[in-house]
This record gives sequence, C-alpha cells and structure tokens, in this order.
Amino acid sequence: MTGHVYVTRQLTDDAMAAVAALGRPVVAGREEPPSRAELLRDVAGAAAVISTLTERLDAAVLDAAGPGLRVVANVAVGYDNVDVAAAHARDVVVTNTPGVLDAATADLTLGLVLALARRIAEGDRFLRTGTPWVWGPRMMTGLDLSAGATLGVIGYGRIGRAVARRARGFDMRVLATPTRTPLTEEEQAVEFRELPELLAGSDVVTLHCPLTPQTQHLIDDGALARMRPGALLVNTARGGIVDTDALLRALATGRLGGAALDVFEDEPHVDPRLLPLEQVVLTPHLGSAGDRTRSAMCRLAVRNVAAVLSGVEPPTPVGGLSG
Ligand code: GLV
Repeated sequence: MTGHVYVTRQLTDDAMAAVAALGRPVVAGREEPPSRAELLRDVAGAAAVISTLTERLDAAVLDAAGPGLRVVANVAVGYDNVDVAAAHARDVVVTNTPGVLDAATADLTLGLVLALARRIAEGDRFLRTGTPWVWGPRMMTGLDLSAGATLGVIGYGRIGRAVARRARGFDMRVLATPTRTPLTEEEQAVEFRELPELLAGSDVVTLHCPLTPQTQHLIDDGALARMRPGALLVNTARGGIVDTDALLRALATGRLGGAALDVFEDEPHVDPRLLPLEQVVLTPHLGSAGDRTRSAMCRLAVRNVAAVLSGVEPPTPVGGLSG
C-alpha cells in the first residue's frame, strides 16, 4: 500500500474515527505494540505514521517507509523513541503531544509523592497480608509534606510547573532547576537552584526533564550521594534518567528513603530487585493515563498528521521542521 496512514497501536475510539476521516487508506496495528518486523512491514509506503513511545522510529524504519513519508506523529510529549535528526534529514516532520497531559501527569506525580511520603502503597500491601494490627502512635509514620518539606523539581517545564503548583497547595517549599521561561506571579514562591544544590536541599526530588544524552543517568551514584539522607525520589519522566543499579545501592544502604517509579530503564521490563522493596512504589507508566487526557493526546497526533498532509503548519512540531 502507498500513501497510507500507519497507526502503530489502537488509539482511543474518537481518534481512530478522526484517522478514518483523513480520507486515506489506513493500516492500523493492535492494542499491543507491533513487533519490529510488523513495524518495518506496515510502514512501507506510508505517508504518515502515528506512533507511540513503545516503537523505535529510527533510520531503518524511516528508510523502510520510503520517500513518501511526510510525518511521524508521536502520541507522547517525550520523543526519545524517534530519531528526529534522521527524520529531518529525510524531510519528515516529527510532532509530539505537549500541553494536553500536563495536569494528568502532575496529578499522578503528586499521587506518588503522597504514596511514598505517607506509605500508602505499603500500608495497602500490609493489610492484604492479613497481619493483625492496631493503631499505634509509632505505627507506619512517614514524611509530613505540609510541615515544611521541600520538593525539588528537576525540569521546570510545563509538567514541572504543574507539579510545583500542586505541591504549593500542600504547603511544600518548592525548589526547581533554573528556567528561561518567565515566571507567573504565583510562581514567585518557587526557588531556583542548580542541580547539586537542589539535590542537597530537597526532601523529595521529582524528575520532569526529557531523556536526552545529557540526562541519561542524570541520577547516578554521585547525584544520589548529594541527596539528603532518607530523601525520596519520584520518576514520572523516563526510566533512563535514573541509573537503576545506583538507585538500588542507595535504597539498600538506606541513603535514599524511598523511590516511586512510573517509568523504567528497558521498559516494560521492571528490574526484579525492585519488587520486594517496601520503600518502593511502582506504577506501569500511568503518567498521562486519564481518559480525557489520552483521548486529547491521540486526537492531537491526528491533527498533526492532518495538518502536514494538507501542507499547513502542524500544531505541535518537534525541533524546527514543520512541513
Ligand atoms: C509519556 O510518557 C509521554 O511522554 O507522553
């Protein structure tokens, strides 16, 4: 087939209807990610690909698509799975879905901060064991967020800002890595610190930067050693930002008080050494998993495709080339 729209995974129903309304042939994958062989087969001749973060869109896939490919629309704000330089070298526009998932991701992040600080998942697991218990003054105490606890936000972009706003609602002090974006009045309460000072000054550190060669293993042995003894780490960004071996070492010594991970190195594989640790909260990459948010992400990806195929500027291009 040529000139088709290749949708690598089943999107939300409204977005699948919007894909059909593009008036082009459609090749659609299943709920599950395509195998590499299926990806290479189904992309051949495509004019547009709507991909998700589970597919690696590298030079080989772009070449398999052939010269008619005009746009790769990734259904995610992160696009570390797409070789953007290789796409641009072939005049292929790449788009992502920023903005529509900030609130959902920030909500989940605060949920994880609370789960970790107040031991919610651990308490749930404990009750399910059927162990006899009774309320006690010393039982399962955790970190009081609103008693001056400090949240360190690494990556003060849209999602980082949404997290900071929510944390202020919990009366937390908020530190963030520097940004060039002008601050709103409400944000004057956020204190900006370079990474080493932010790590040293936070009770809870939360990651909201993209995965790039510069942020790969940003949280390594050195960074973890800078954190306050007993501090907590939350990752709803990308697994590769945290060195899992270093994280496990810091948890084993008690240097780190706990970690909440929504994303993993080598996802969907979850390092089995994390599983028995009570001070670790694990969720399966649910950051943007609100009904309306997922629908908005999928529909934005289709709008990006529609724009490029009709020769107009797509709403959310990545890095320069926009059609
Ligand atoms: C999800 O992880 C996204 O990047 O949108």
